[in-house]
Amino acid sequence: MTNAIKKAVFPVAGLGTRFLPATKAMPKEMLTIVDRPVIQLAVDEARAAGIDHFIFVTGRNKGVIEDHFDKQFELEATLRERGKTVELALLDSDLPGAGQTSFTRQQQPLGLGHAVWCARELVGDEPFALLLPDMLVHSRVSCLAQMMPAYRQHGGNVLAVEEVPHEQTHRYGIVGISGSEDNAFPITEMVEKPTPGTAPSNLMISGRYILQPEIFDLLRSQERGSGNEIQLTDAMIRLMESQRFTAVRFEGKTYDCGDKIGFLSANIAFALARDDIGAQVREAIKELAGNG
Ligand code: G1P
Repeated sequence: MTNAIKKAVFPVAGLGTRFLPATKAMPKEMLTIVDRPVIQLAVDEARAAGIDHFIFVTGRNKGVIEDHFDKQFELEATLRERGKTVELALLDSDLPGAGQTSFTRQQQPLGLGHAVWCARELVGDEPFALLLPDMLVHSRVSCLAQMMPAYRQHGGNVLAVEEVPHEQTHRYGIVGISGSEDNAFPITEMVEKPTPGTAPSNLMISGRYILQPEIFDLLRSQERGSGNEIQLTDAMIRLMESQRFTAVRFEGKTYDCGDKIGFLSANIAFALARDDIGAQVREAIKELAGNG
């Protein structure tokens, strides 16, 4: 019997320097994919997997994220006056319930492992999900929801993985796996940002995790690793000594929205998939590409 996963952590403290000047006064997580902020899409994915408490690890200049997940009384009153019922219903359905959000700050940019550790008091002694909002997944079924059957079956820790071209493995955490159990595999090794030519496979850790709370104690004592930062992967490697880690290959595609091309590609992919504008976007792209 595994404990249901009810809490999700979203590390959103990053500066977004690759998107300056857009991110000078606005958090990068509020950049939009068509008309939904990147962070909203990550929350949508978590909600679709049964998460009911959303924990944001923020930093300076991220207050807008907290406002985004709050009610906007003036706006709602104006929409009501104008009879904009569709927009009102949209705002309502996007909003987590009262008391379902928590915010804490990572006071110094010491790395992903440190950001996750900052959520320890809010998570408490229970397994939790971790979603890196920059890594936006386009899929029919929520990526986190696709990980739940493997968690229910095997317990322990579960990571979503996705194939990347071999020449890109040095940009990610990479896992080595053994055997095959449908789409879920035991993880045998892990390495954060392997030097080119040394990766155990081309399966990257794609930014969706189900983790046991024992990770927090390991993060507390974790020394700096790749990039001189406290790396989550390094603490997971230590946790592998006593707990199972399962890799899940999910149906869908990840777009790295921390990168300009990834972000623009995500916008195009999500726009093309939309019922309301997909056909028009396809025409617009054809026209633009034809004129290139
Ligand atoms: C982090 C993780 C890495 C993972 C990646 C996905 O790296 O440390 O294991 O593959 O996210 O984006 P970062 O992108 O923060 O350098």
